[in-house]
Amino acid sequence: MSNQTILVLDFGGQYKELIARSIRDAKVYSLVKSGSISADEVRKINPIGIILTGGPNSVYGDSAQEFDADILSLGVPVLGICYGMQLLCHTLGGHVVSCKTSEFGVTKANLDNSSEIFKGVSAVTKVLMSHSDRVERAPEGFKVIGHTAKCPVCAVENPEKRLYGVQFHPEVELSVEGQQVLRNFLFNVCKASADYDLGDYIERKIKEVRETVGNDTVILGLSGGVDSSVAATLLSRAIGKQLICIFVDHGLMRENEGDEIESIFSKMDLHFVRVDAEARFLEKLKGVTDPEKKRKIIGAEFAYVFEEEARKFENARYLAQGTIYPDIIESGGKHNAVIKSHHNVGGLPEKLNFKGVVEPLNGLFKNEVRIVGKKLGLPDYLINRQPFPGPGLAVRVMGEVTKEKCDILRKADKIYRDEIEKSNVKVSQYFAVLTGVRTVGVMGDYRTYDYLVALRAVNTSDFMTAQYTPIPHRLLQKISSRIVNEVKGVNRVCYDITSKPPSTIEWE
Ligand code: XMP
Repeated sequence: MSNQTILVLDFGGQYKELIARSIRDAKVYSLVKSGSISADEVRKINPIGIILTGGPNSVYGDSAQEFDADILSLGVPVLGICYGMQLLCHTLGGHVVSCKTSEFGVTKANLDNSSEIFKGVSAVTKVLMSHSDRVERAPEGFKVIGHTAKCPVCAVENPEKRLYGVQFHPEVELSVEGQQVLRNFLFNVCKASADYDLGDYIERKIKEVRETVGNDTVILGLSGGVDSSVAATLLSRAIGKQLICIFVDHGLMRENEGDEIESIFSKMDLHFVRVDAEARFLEKLKGVTDPEKKRKIIGAEFAYVFEEEARKFENARYLAQGTIYPDIIESGGKHNAVIKSHHNVGGLPEKLNFKGVVEPLNGLFKNEVRIVGKKLGLPDYLINRQPFPGPGLAVRVMGEVTKEKCDILRKADKIYRDEIEKSNVKVSQYFAVLTGVRTVGVMGDYRTYDYLVALRAVNTSDFMTAQYTPIPHRLLQKISSRIVNEVKGVNRVCYDITSKPPSTIEWE
């Protein structure tokens, strides 16, 4: 691939992924590397621009010392964001000081929109600030092109050297014209030509996989989630029956989910194995109520089952995984053949003596994986599937997990899903929870003492924070009525109106 590249240097900020994704959304290829990369390595990558991300550090700490200042003399345009701007200014002789009071939140910024970086942006615009240090004096040759009430040096530029810095976070939605700032950097400053798309991605990966594995057999743990499903489909195109997909059905899936996965993948050109392990998992979960213990038991059992099945295929030499780019970014770039930590098969390559790991999606963001999935012809409901936790319904049945409780939850959850799908409510993730609570009710002339079901629905773009979804009362009422009437064992429904934080999205 020979696309123009924007290099995003990571200084530990939480928004690096968002920056890299925004750049790709603008059809420019982005690559995230550690902030301690050397100027020589940067030269090899040959980027058309560099973004220094935010981060929790101070320029008087270690990471500033690790930064190779020669990167700023390569003649490549640089945009420093938040800590990145402080680092840029500090390195070039400006002065950074600690703010008397930190500035967190949305504020008005006055920006000089005659600068290339602020073209088309309002002179006064809302931005997200989140910092404890600030630039007090810009380096020589730099001009101050923005300020806020609390931050006199909120943006700087040296247009001759094509170096820019913004104290605010243009990458987040809360900075209302932030995307324009990023686009200005890409197209006005770096002169990007928007040459990146996923045009021949599938063909390239097919060729690469064939070259890597030759005639060897490859094993993939298929969960039915978006990543492993797209990986399986792509690999099937590349190597057909040389691919073995092992679907460990732990019996903790939603209604019909296991059968749906089987019906899609058993028709593909690959070797599909469904392992019915429900009884094994439920046996191991007997009497266990602690959520963390449940997760650990399920993770360990998953690995046992997968290993047992994989051993049946003695000739398998490669392990395939649906690892995606954020998994790699999150593990700090020190990735290579490390198993995705939440993938439940950690440690297997060593035990099973695989020659290597095949990860055909490891350069893609989730939205790009979906595009590839669509191109491969996977059905929409699978591609746009909401996230489902690895431990499945075990963390949605509070307390001890039993088949009876899972069955009750599956029925309630199915009704909830059907009704939401029929409505036009915009929601990122939603599910039913079987609380451990039983309550008194009355049905006909009889007293009942049955379960309380909770409904959860959230809107979020990153699942790190989330707002509860204001589902209309009328719809909630319909769902509640259907659940108590159609699901035996439930006589009360409540709706969870907490956001994350302080709650999490899942209940356990
Ligand atoms: P929380 O509950 O931490 O969840 O707010 C954030 C997102 O992660 C999903 N989740 C998991 N996904 N294994 C997974 O693969 C897990 O153990 C797990 N726990 C939570 C959750 O559904 C939500 O989308």
